[in-house]
This record gives sequence, structure tokens and C-alpha cells, in this order.
Amino acid sequence: MSTLATVPALQPARLEETLRRFAALSEPGPGVSRLAYTRLERQAHDLFASLLAELGIAAYTDAAGNTIGELAPDAEPRPGAIGTGSHLDSVPHGGAYDGTVGVVAALAVAAAASAGPRPRHRPWRFVAFAAEEGARFGQACNGSRIVAGLTGAADLRQLTDRTGTTMAAAMTECGLAPERVETARWDPRDWRAFVELHVEQGTVLEHRRVPVGVVDTVSGSTRLRVCLTGVASHTGGTPMDNRRDALAAAAECVLDCERLAVAATDVNTRITVGALTVEPGAITIIPGRVVFTVDVRETDYGRQRAAAHAVGQRCRTVAARRGVDVEVEELADTPPVSLSREVAAVAHAAATALGLPAEVLASGASHDTQQISRLMPAGIVFVPSRGGLSHSPGEFSTADQVAAGAAVLLETMYRLDATA
Ligand code: GLV
Ligand code: MN
Ligand code: MN
Repeated sequence: MSTLATVPALQPARLEETLRRFAALSEPGPGVSRLAYTRLERQAHDLFASLLAELGIAAYTDAAGNTIGELAPDAEPRPGAIGTGSHLDSVPHGGAYDGTVGVVAALAVAAAASAGPRPRHRPWRFVAFAAEEGARFGQACNGSRIVAGLTGAADLRQLTDRTGTTMAAAMTECGLAPERVETARWDPRDWRAFVELHVEQGTVLEHRRVPVGVVDTVSGSTRLRVCLTGVASHTGGTPMDNRRDALAAAAECVLDCERLAVAATDVNTRITVGALTVEPGAITIIPGRVVFTVDVRETDYGRQRAAAHAVGQRCRTVAARRGVDVEVEELADTPPVSLSREVAAVAHAAATALGLPAEVLASGASHDTQQISRLMPAGIVFVPSRGGLSHSPGEFSTADQVAAGAAVLLETMYRLDATA
């Protein structure tokens, strides 16, 4: 690798140590549990702000809970900031890398750039987005959606977690200001470009033995909640031909979701039932009510909507055949996006200049940059994930892989800084 390998802020051991500090901010294991709009997520944002402060970079937290620091230009100024960052919340029992790698790399870039001799013409902004994971409230990328003007105060009062707490209430509890989130919106005229480093969460880079991915497309996601209501009754007393078992119906629906995705013509169609609750949930009671979620991921919006529609149809068919009532509710709908060709080309060239082979690929996961790309040219750089595992305690990328990604990120930022 090039001389960037000698930049102290980009040393693998240093990045690993910072990753460890964030990973320590977790509910008890396994893995990392730092859910959106919780005390732990806020502590991680405070750590981000304090690490920026150590570099002499002041940061603020906006009404939505995003934390942003800015490094002023040190050479003849050009208009429009360039930004980098990712998120600090996690799924329940997730890994230490999803999101955090991009924030830790942003901190390394901040340290390297503020120490470096290389001129910077534009403001550089370092961002920790709030509440990227849809795991708690169904809607992903909340902080970035708010800055992009895609989510407003009224939406925050509608979204609830499994205990019935609204997102607005959770935000207020954390000292944020859900009623004022419009103040957090970004003005695209104030920006030039954004680039995020993230773990791949797939196996393309590992299989091809390539250290760097440059993302061209980010999958969209339609999220459904399906509620099946049958009749709870005695497991011993009720004959098998006189049951309206909500769980048996749900089991058929779950397998139908899998069949739909497996039969799809495109490899990017992914349909998953990830959460399911059974009521009353006792060994001696036929399940009366089952609620489950469906996550439909696609790189083509037409196919995404068609697949979500087909899921609803299948569930209705199964329910009708089994005499069970069904309600299908759409929790969230985010279309796929194509990212900026310009930023992708700059990132690709940056990797090449550092002697790191790079592969162009699609992202099956959602990312904050998906939302930010509505405001400005935006791109995502991936580093490999061991075994493709993510949203799991087994999530892992080596410190060297993270350091290579951070070096590409820094070089990309300098090259974007130098664009017209
Ligand atoms: C974010 O991690 C997602 O669910 O894609
Ligand atoms: Mn992520
Ligand atoms: Mn995630």
C-alpha cells in the first residue's frame, strides 16, 4: 500500500481500539445491542463528539439526534462541503462493525486531515447519523431521512416500537426535539458530495478476494406487518378439524414468502420474515393471534412493489383457506437508488492510486447515503465482511481491512475536495 499506510490515524491498531470503545457501549451480550434512540446510542454519539473535540473539531447534535462536526478549509476556499460518516445504532445482538466502521473511519479521516499537510479547500463534515437501523421502529435511516426532508415530525408520532413507544416519545426521552426536526434539514446548496465507508454485509468481496467495494446501487426495502387472527382454544379439547390456528397459517405464509423470493427471476429479490410473535403463547393453547414482519428487498422498485403486493396476496389466500382473519400493514417503503457515478469513479480511482483493487457492486442493505444521495452526489465504499455475516454477533472485518477502507475514504475525500 502507499504512503497513506504510515498516517498514524489510519493505523489498524488505532482503528481497532476506537471500534472497541464503541462496542463497549452495549446492552449485555451476545454481540452489540445499541438500539435507535436509547441512552446507549446517545452515549455513542457523545463519544463521537468528544473524539472530534480532541481533534479541535466542535460538533453539535441536531433535533433528530444526528451529530455533526466540521473542519474548516485551510486553503483557498471553494463552496460546498464534503462529508463522510455513518450510524452508531445497532440491531439487537448485532455486530461491532455495521455503521460504526464508517464513523470510526470518519474520525480517522478527521484526525489525518487536521494533522496533514495536504490542502483542503472545502469544509469537511463528519457525521454520526441517528437511528439508521429499522430494527426498533420499522423505518430505517431515520436521521438521514430527516436531513433529506423525507421524514417529518408527524411521521415520528406514527412509528412505534414493539412496546408501543412512539419514535417521537423515544426521541424526547433522549433529550431530542422531534417536533422541531424540520430544523435539521440540510440545504443541498451547502454541500458538494458525501461518501460513506461501510462493511459489505455480503460475500462478494470475500469471494473475489478484493479489499474494496464501490457501490453503484442500494436496494430498496418495503416492510410489512401481517396480523393473523384465529381462535385461541384448548390444545387437547379442540379437534384438529375444528381449529383456526393463527400460527399454522403464519407458518404457511412464512414459507410462501421464501418461495416467492427463491422463484424470483432476479438474484437481488430478498424476502424475509424476521420477527414473529405468538399470542397467547402457551403450550396448552392453540395460537389465537400471530403478528410477523416481512422485509422485501430489491434493486428494482417495480419488482419491489410487485413482490410486496404478492406477499400480501399470498397471506390473504392462506388466511382465507384456513378461516383466519388477516391484516397487512405497510410499515415503510424505501425505493432503491443509483448512487453518483462521479463519486464512484473518484472512489475507484482513489483505491487504484493506493494499490487496492476495487470491485463495483450493489448493496443489499440500506444505508444513510441512500437518503443523502437525494441531496448531493453521494457514494459508498465497502470493506469485506467475514463470511458475509452481519446483523449478528459474528460480524467481523479485520483491522487491516478497515484500515484499507479508511485510507480509500481519506483519499476519496481529498479528491472530492479538489473537484470543481
Ligand atoms: C440496515 O442495516 C438495513 O437493515 O439494511
Ligand atoms: Mn449499517
Ligand atoms: Mn444494519
